[in-house]
Amino acid sequence: MWNIEEIKKDVRKNLKDYRYNHSINVMEEAKKLAIHYNANVEKAMLCGLTHDMCKEYTPLENEDFINKHNLSKELLLPENKNMVHGFLASIIVKEKYNFTNDMVLAIKYHTTGYPNMDMLAKIIYLADKIEKGKDYPLIEEERILAYKDIDKAIIFCLNNQIKHLKEKNKVINKMGYETLKFLEEHTMN
Ligand SMILES: [Fe+2]
Repeated sequence: MWNIEEIKKDVRKNLKDYRYNHSINVMEEAKKLAIHYNANVEKAMLCGLTHDMCKEYTPLENEDFINKHNLSKELLLPENKNMVHGFLASIIVKEKYNFTNDMVLAIKYHTTGYPNMDMLAKIIYLADKIEKGKDYPLIEEERILAYKDIDKAIIFCLNNQIKHLKEKNKVINKMGYETLKFLEEHTMN
């Protein structure tokens, strides 16, 4: 079984400095959120640390991985471009580090969330957005809301993400809309 220090070293090998720093920041933010919401701190930290471990794969490496693991070719479509690294990381953490299924799911969908997410997945989605190194419009509101009401924070972040992508003439993956719809229907005002 891999321990966190060994996984840190392994993740380090695949990432540029700034992205490794982001991963450490997400790990720390996920730890804080897990303590705040009484979730499993170790799982949150490990997911935060590894969520982006495949983000620097080249398009060719992505394709190769997808073929080798018999994953859906749809992952290579442009609309899935931002999600694919989470899918690939979710396979590695399961096969190599033996992460549990809840951890695998949190990593797989960390860019968009998914309907009916568990607390771990909510924590990883948010920690990735609000970690201390990030800076973009409305992030301070997101940071405050994250510790006040985690569902409302995710709704706020997804809307912010959608708006931001629209400004760049991009759209969020349809899973993002499904997460948003689910949370809006199941969250009390
Ligand atoms: Fe990230």
